Amino acid sequence: MNISFKINNEAITVNVSDENTPLLWVVRDVLNLKGTKFGCGKAACGACTLHIDDVAVRSCSYAVKFAEGKNVTTIEGLGDAENPHPVQQAWIEEVVPQCGYCQPGFMMATAALLKENDNPTDEDIDNNIINICRCATYYRMRKAIHRAAELTRESKL
Ligand code: FES
Ligand code: FES
Repeated sequence: MNISFKINNEAITVNVSDENTPLLWVVRDVLNLKGTKFGCGKAACGACTLHIDDVAVRSCSYAVKFAEGKNVTTIEGLGDAENPHPVQQAWIEEVVPQCGYCQPGFMMATAALLKENDNPTDEDIDNNIINICRCATYYRMRKAIHRAAELTRESKL
């Protein structure tokens, strides 16, 4: 069946044999956007986080049929080297990644949080950014989230 949606602001139609295929497989294997990662496959780790209509979603557990008509954003669409998103800028400044595998998911979760709350407390971060990092970069990530919030607030002045 055909499923149409926007990916990083580009309208596309994909043909899938099973409408319950996880969106993650379509993003990685059909659309060749490899920034979104597979970790647990059970909505537990957050490595596969992307945005659907600006809300953070764990794409390993989201059937592609539900993306019909929606606006999907992946880490590739968040920003780029010339125009990094405040979250990407903060991640660079704080040199957050270790192996890097989990980081796109954390950045997408953070970007979604900052859309709702551009001045999160440590408690807000603990309650909302519940992804898993096997390299335990949590301390640097917390600093980067606060820095990203600061950059976001500055961009609104
Ligand atoms: S791969 Fe989706 S939450 Fe872990
Ligand atoms: S940086 Fe390695 S898993 Fe998070």
